[in-house]
Amino acid sequence: MARFIDELKRTHGCGALRDTNVGDEVVLFGWVHSRRDHGELIFIDLRDRDGITQVVFDPSVDGNPFAIGDQARGEWVLGIRGRVRSRGGNVNDKLATGRIEVLALEATVFNRAETPVFSIEDDIDTSEEKRLEHRYLDLRRPKLQRSLMTRSRIYHHTRSHFHDHGFVEVETPIFVKYTPGGARNFLVPARLNPGSFYALAESPQLFKQLLMVSGFDRYIQIVKCFRDEDLRGDRQPEFTQIDVEMSFVCQDDIFGIIEKLVVRLWKELLGVDLAERYPGGVFPRMQFDESMRRFGNDKPDMRFGLEHVDLTELVIEHSGGGIAMLTPIAEKFRSGAYRRDLPEEIVKAIRIPAAQAAGMSRTEIDRLEAFVKQMGAKGLARAKVGPESTGFEWQQSPMGKTATKEFVAAANAACGAVEGDLLLFQFGPEAMVHTVMANLRLHLGKKFGLIPQVGARSATHETGDWNFLWVVEPPLFERGDEGKGWVAAHHPFTRPHDQSLGHLETDPGKVLCYRYDLVLNGVELGGGSIRLHDPDVQKRVFEVLGIGQEQAQEKFGFLLQALRSGAPPHGGIALGLDRLAMLLTESESLRDVIAFPKTGKGADLMTGAPAGVTAEQLAELKVRSLV
Ligand code: AMO
Repeated sequence: MARFIDELKRTHGCGALRDTNVGDEVVLFGWVHSRRDHGELIFIDLRDRDGITQVVFDPSVDGNPFAIGDQARGEWVLGIRGRVRSRGGNVNDKLATGRIEVLALEATVFNRAETPVFSIEDDIDTSEEKRLEHRYLDLRRPKLQRSLMTRSRIYHHTRSHFHDHGFVEVETPIFVKYTPGGARNFLVPARLNPGSFYALAESPQLFKQLLMVSGFDRYIQIVKCFRDEDLRGDRQPEFTQIDVEMSFVCQDDIFGIIEKLVVRLWKELLGVDLAERYPGGVFPRMQFDESMRRFGNDKPDMRFGLEHVDLTELVIEHSGGGIAMLTPIAEKFRSGAYRRDLPEEIVKAIRIPAAQAAGMSRTEIDRLEAFVKQMGAKGLARAKVGPESTGFEWQQSPMGKTATKEFVAAANAACGAVEGDLLLFQFGPEAMVHTVMANLRLHLGKKFGLIPQVGARSATHETGDWNFLWVVEPPLFERGDEGKGWVAAHHPFTRPHDQSLGHLETDPGKVLCYRYDLVLNGVELGGGSIRLHDPDVQKRVFEVLGIGQEQAQEKFGFLLQALRSGAPPHGGIALGLDRLAMLLTESESLRDVIAFPKTGKGADLMTGAPAGVTAEQLAELKVRSLV
């Protein structure tokens, strides 16, 4: 029988011991974080997920401990029986256990370790590739351990929140039928049905709606979802949702249950009382349209200004304002080629206040132009606002040379521009202008230090510049490719506003719907909708989308049938759990809150997935590879 583990059980974690333990005999297990040989004595910082304890190996102690302390090297796994003693004046304030140390009385080596390829420290400059390749080592870093433990607490509080509110946790299939539309799916060949494929579920959407039809009333699932998309820092090919669906509810009911969850998570995990900032724990709402107008996207970071100013109306009113590049846009509106309520081309400006503009060199502004060109902009028109004596004329700007005084005055007034301010303009197709200006705004916000930086566990983290927002009431449809026809902006089972129904056949672009996104500091935390359960309205929506009955049956057959079988009014939402964890732990990327994440190219650098398979395996699946 082994002495350690079998007989000597662990008494404490490595972060647990305090002054009050002085004199206690303890058993610790852990990894050699660091080792210092002071000739007479050897000091080892022993680490586990709980923290670090200094262990002292003294040659005058009987038995083996000193010999083990002498041999041990970084990342060896040790067991120690020892006595806690005070460090006297040599307190280490950086450690929770810094007032004590443990004198080793007995020790064992559970395992030796090869010299690690990088040291287990938080602030290391090892490349992320190397860290991902040796993720088991990377995951020993205290920051990652803390993040995953926070993530675990998110599961716990989420489950108990929904349990307390009468939700039922139900698992739904991961192998599903491919349905067109939505995200691109990963496909899995079905060996037992040659030539057929499963899709990996991009979300449990259809199943959770069916559970409502079945009468489960309130559903929750913490669930893996799979999407074969282009990846970024806040996207992973497999990610986790807190997925929710409720029957007999309106939008406010869904918001209420989610707000309560968020308030609870912030309280439990950060000690932050969001109700202080948001009375009653109710988050503000913004119309989708307003969000697009002021910020160019539907997930505005409201922690700073630099808002967009839409000048389209002014440009039309002033027939282009004497600016050759803007005249054709004004003309198209005048001639009726563009509609004012659904403009195809728009003009927007951002005003950089004089204080910041003064510090910007010409090269810097040229760099901004290069930045927006990467996003499909043709250029970045600009104007420096002159002194009052000149009527705040536009200087250092080709536009300023021809612009009419009246247009300049009106545009300045709209932007709130005064002497020394820099105006940046973008015009062209609506979607492009919004995207370019939204990204430019964020870029400038970071450049001017207006967005609190991630990583500094700062005052802002605890006291919170936590800016929550519901973005609501977007249009149900958007124009299809090349402006032809209509497609569902989200999915065709979103319920239109009753008061919009009159526009369904006559003016689909004006139909608003019960869809919503929860945004936190510019990150889309979650999204959902009230579903369309009325077969008559459903039919009319399909008609707008050009989906005939036969096609609808083929695409969504079982859901349509289910909705005809006694479907309660229902709606739901899914929150991105990884994104929630990323924000709650102040991490920079989703990879820092997922134990074994994929790279930007969807690879697992540790296991080598994805990888080739043999010709025999493919043959068995009746699949031929083209590469
Ligand atoms: P949606 O597609 O908006 O809605 O997804 C909900 C939330 O999931 C997160 N998310 C992601 N997180 C990491 N990596 C990704 N690739 C990724 N894609 C999405 C986001 C997002 O807000 N079935 C609907 C929900 C509903 O209508 O109830 C859905 O999946 O935080």
